[in-house]
Amino acid sequence: MAVEKERRNFLGAALGLFTAAGGIGALSAMKYTWDPLPSVKAAGFTTIDLSKMPENVLVTEKWRGKPIFVLKHSKDMKSDPRDVKIGDDIYFIAVGLCTHLGCIPSYFPDDKKFICACHGGQYDSNGKVLKSPPPRPLDIPPFKIEGTKLVLGEEGPEYKKMLADGLTSKV
Ligand code: FES
Repeated sequence: MAVEKERRNFLGAALGLFTAAGGIGALSAMKYTWDPLPSVKAAGFTTIDLSKMPENVLVTEKWRGKPIFVLKHSKDMKSDPRDVKIGDDIYFIAVGLCTHLGCIPSYFPDDKKFICACHGGQYDSNGKVLKSPPPRPLDIPPFKIEGTKLVLGEEGPEYKKMLADGLTSKV
């Protein structure tokens, strides 16, 4: 009888530990998703360190009052002229405002697409329109690459080329 009770106590404690470990894991994953990347803001520029960014997790920064989406592509995502290459990694950077009427689209990592809840517009993981009414892709903010850092607000050669190629309009 005593052995049975001890066994039950042990199983209860083990289950409690297992549940607590799972909860802590889930909370730390959520924290990682919600925490902003290390960034520095100065005189209209925002510098974001992308070196520790996880794949296929949308990070939203703020630049000049606008939400800026930064998405590190996973290896299975198709390449696109709007890709931003930093080292061996590919990123998508965009102003996080729907080009229809300015709502903030949500990212769905399993489908790898953005959906705007206001009128049902959809964009792929490079911000290109999958479903109207958005009239054009998500806009790309001026950016410059410095090592593993992204400087928002400065026009680097990659951004100037995108403008020249008509891949985005100036914001
Ligand atoms: Fe996004 Fe209308 S504001 S679809």
